[in-house]
Amino acid sequence: MALAVDEIVSRCRGALAEHTPVLAVRDVLAELVADPRALEDALGPVDAGGITTLHHDADLTVLHVAWTPGMALNPHEHRMWAVIGLYGGQEDNSFYRRVPGGLEPSGGRELPAGDVLVLGDDVVHSVANSRREFAVALHVYGGDFFSVGRSEWEFDSYQERPRDLDRTRRLFEEANARWRSRT
Ligand SMILES: [Fe+2]
Repeated sequence: MALAVDEIVSRCRGALAEHTPVLAVRDVLAELVADPRALEDALGPVDAGGITTLHHDADLTVLHVAWTPGMALNPHEHRMWAVIGLYGGQEDNSFYRRVPGGLEPSGGRELPAGDVLVLGDDVVHSVANSRREFAVALHVYGGDFFSVGRSEWEFDSYQERPRDLDRTRRLFEEANARWRSRT
């Protein structure tokens, strides 16, 4: 039987009951991204970057995320664990340490399709898609992604401010417009 969005969510929900939920979610995503065709069929074709909420409640958020080619999302935190599973393209993650007055770069990780990345609840990262194809992923968070107050930082100055999801949406719109108008 074909994979459905409900099943993706219920498998993540089931993982929350395991002894170590974040690792159980990692295993669920590793299984899911091993079959990208099934995910494409369940989630539909991607022709623009954006974030689609598949599920969110107080202890679980499941997002379908497509990063537009050439876009970069500035450093931010989640204040909850996160697991990212790529099933198309590649997502380049950069990590940061908090230091007085801002951030300090602290390595990175390229995440190609088929890979899964676990982020602890104190991680600060930025994300870029440097390829000429959409980077498509499932992002699972151990809480309500949309209601928790948290910070983001400017790329250049590392100045901290409250996370602004409207600003993130505008970043996607701008990146989509640039990608559509490419020559
Ligand atoms: Fe993030």
